[in-house]
Amino acid sequence: MSLKSLDFNVHPDDKRSAQTVQLAGPLLAVESSCDETACALIAPDGSVLAQRLVSQDAHAEFGGVVPEIAARAHLALLPDLARRTLQDANLAPADVAAVAASVGPGLIGGLVVGTNFAKGLAIALGKPFIAVNHIEAHALSARLPGVVEGGATFPFLLLLASGGHCQCLAVEGVGRYRRLGGTIDDAAGEAFDKVAKMLGLGWPGGPALEKLANEGDPKAFALPRPLKGREGCDFSFSGLKTAIARQIAPYGSEPLPRTVAADLAASFQQAVSDVVADRVSNALAMMDGPTLLVAAGGVAANKTLRARLTEVAERHGLRFAAPPLALCTDNAVMVGWAALETCAEAARLGLPALDDMQFRPRPRWPLAEMAERFEV
Ligand code: KG4
Ligand code: ZN
Repeated sequence: MSLKSLDFNVHPDDKRSAQTVQLAGPLLAVESSCDETACALIAPDGSVLAQRLVSQDAHAEFGGVVPEIAARAHLALLPDLARRTLQDANLAPADVAAVAASVGPGLIGGLVVGTNFAKGLAIALGKPFIAVNHIEAHALSARLPGVVEGGATFPFLLLLASGGHCQCLAVEGVGRYRRLGGTIDDAAGEAFDKVAKMLGLGWPGGPALEKLANEGDPKAFALPRPLKGREGCDFSFSGLKTAIARQIAPYGSEPLPRTVAADLAASFQQAVSDVVADRVSNALAMMDGPTLLVAAGGVAANKTLRARLTEVAERHGLRFAAPPLALCTDNAVMVGWAALETCAEAARLGLPALDDMQFRPRPRWPLAEMAERFEV
C-alpha cells in the first residue's frame, strides 16, 4: 500500500495522535459521494484553512438526487472549487502535502469523478492520495478539534441519520467500528422527504416539514411507532409513511387543509423522534462504556429529535453532542479530518505511510472492512 512516504512526526505517547502528527503541509480533501460538491484544506493539527461547498440545486425539480446529474455537476464544479479553496487559504497547489477524497460508499458516478480528480491532482503534485470512507468521515467528525467540548474520546455511539443512511455505530477507535443496527427500509431523511412530498412541501423535505410541524399538534394523529420496544437497534420507517398516506387519502386531489398538514407533520416528527430515541437507547445499552452520544447527518438538525436524544443520553448518564450543522451534513472538512486520523493511526501502529493510488471507488464499502487498513 505504501508507495511514497509522508513526513510524519509522531509523539510516541500520544493517544489522540492526529493532533500531533506532522504532515509536511496541508491536506486537500474532496467530497463528491452524493449531491454536495466540496473541497477543504486542513492543516496537520486539524485546523480548517479553507473550505468551499456547493449543494447542487439541479435535483430539486426531480424531488430527489439524480445520480447522472450529480456526477456531471461534480465534474463541472470541482476544478474551480479546488482552485478557489486554495486561493482562500492563500496557498499554491505545490503547498499541498496530500490529497484525500471520499472513495465510497455513495453514488458511483460522483465517486468516480471526485476520486479521479483527487488522484490526478496527487499525481501532478507528486503527493500521496488518501482514500476515505464517507461513513467513517461522518463517524470521526465529532473528533475534529473544537467540535465536542473536551473532545470525543473512544468509544462513543454515533447515530448517523441522513437522506441516504440511518444507522447506529459503535465508534471504538480509528478503523474500529461496529454497526449495531440500521434501517431495514428507508433512511430517516428519506422518510422525511417522502412524507414532506405527500404534504405538498418542496425538496429536501426535512427542514420544511420541521417548520410546518411547529404549527401542528404532535398528538393529533395516532401514528405507529415501528420497532419501538423491540430488541436491538434496527429502524423501519416505511410503515409510518403508509400511515400518513392513509390519513391523506380521503382528501383525494384536493389540497390538504394547512392545519391537517401541520398536525400530520408534527405527529410524524414526534413518531420518528420516539422511535429513534428508543433505538438509540438500546444501542447505548449494547455498548461497553460509551463516553458520549453523537448524532450526525442532515436529520440530526431536527430540534425535536435533538431534544429526545439529549434526554436519552442523560438517562444513560452521558452527554449528547451533534457537530454544527455544516459538519453534520456532507462536507469535505470531515473527509480531510478522517484522512489525517487514518494517516496518524497508521503511523502510531508503525505502518508505512499510506498512499491509496490503487484504491478504486466503491459504491459499497462496509465499515467493518476498515480495520483491514491497519493489518500488517
Ligand atoms: O446528510 P444530508 O445533508 O445528506 C445526505 O443525505 O447525505 O442529509 C439530508 C437529509 C434530507 O433527507 C433532509 O430532508 C434531512 O436530511 N433533513 C432533515 C432536516 N434537515 C435536513 N430532516 C429532518 N429535520 C430537519 N431539520
Ligand atoms: Zn453523508
